[in-house]
Amino acid sequence: MLSSHPVYRIAPSILSADFARLGEEVQAVIAAGADWIHFDVMDNHYVPNLTFGPMICQALRPHAKQADGSAVPIDVHLMVQPVDALAAAFADAGADLISFHPDASGHVHRSIQAIKSKGCKAGLVFNPAAPMDVLDWVIDDIDLILIMSVNPGFGGQSFIDSALRKIEDARKRIDACGKDIRLEVDGGIKLENIARIAAAGADTFVAGSAIFGKPDYKGVIDAMRVALAT
Ligand code: DX5
Ligand code: ZN
Repeated sequence: MLSSHPVYRIAPSILSADFARLGEEVQAVIAAGADWIHFDVMDNHYVPNLTFGPMICQALRPHAKQADGSAVPIDVHLMVQPVDALAAAFADAGADLISFHPDASGHVHRSIQAIKSKGCKAGLVFNPAAPMDVLDWVIDDIDLILIMSVNPGFGGQSFIDSALRKIEDARKRIDACGKDIRLEVDGGIKLENIARIAAAGADTFVAGSAIFGKPDYKGVIDAMRVALAT
């Protein structure tokens, strides 16, 4: 089945936001055109960094809204091990999508079921050197595939080009299964490379340092959409 022209989504990662003003930052980046808010959750166990827990998600939930009051999806990327208890806590804290690294769960299929039983969309995250063969058995159960184009743990890293081949493979798998599964890419995404990443098959783009820390969030997001449209 040929993939129709996708609806592209920009998902700014608050990892690069001003942590002293997270509520304002979420409101500002939504006003600038963000489609999702990407939460990079790190536990200093699965990855060598520590960020935030479900309480921050709960605190930011009311701020993740469009001007008309409609909710903006909170896209939680769990870089944690084990997965299930924190996934449930983020679901209770208002997460809309919860993705995890399969190698961080002892029972991947059960973790996916647990996330979906909470009414959240479930995703799997693949590190740069991680194989994707687990998708042979669970692609029909997930709503999102997240391809890491950097090694997880830090923002501001450079895009790893081999991720392009992995994105192409994931796109083939999604088209073959015929389900509406989002193909998200995370790490080193900039105005200069986003079109190439879309051409490989991605439809959802995490961007942290390309947006936060810049003087004009709307200018960056608008420019990214122009690059995606050309
Ligand atoms: C790594 C994080 C980063 C972040 C994006 O674990 O997941 O990839 O979201 O950071 P930038 O856009 O600054 O590479
Ligand atoms: Zn992420």
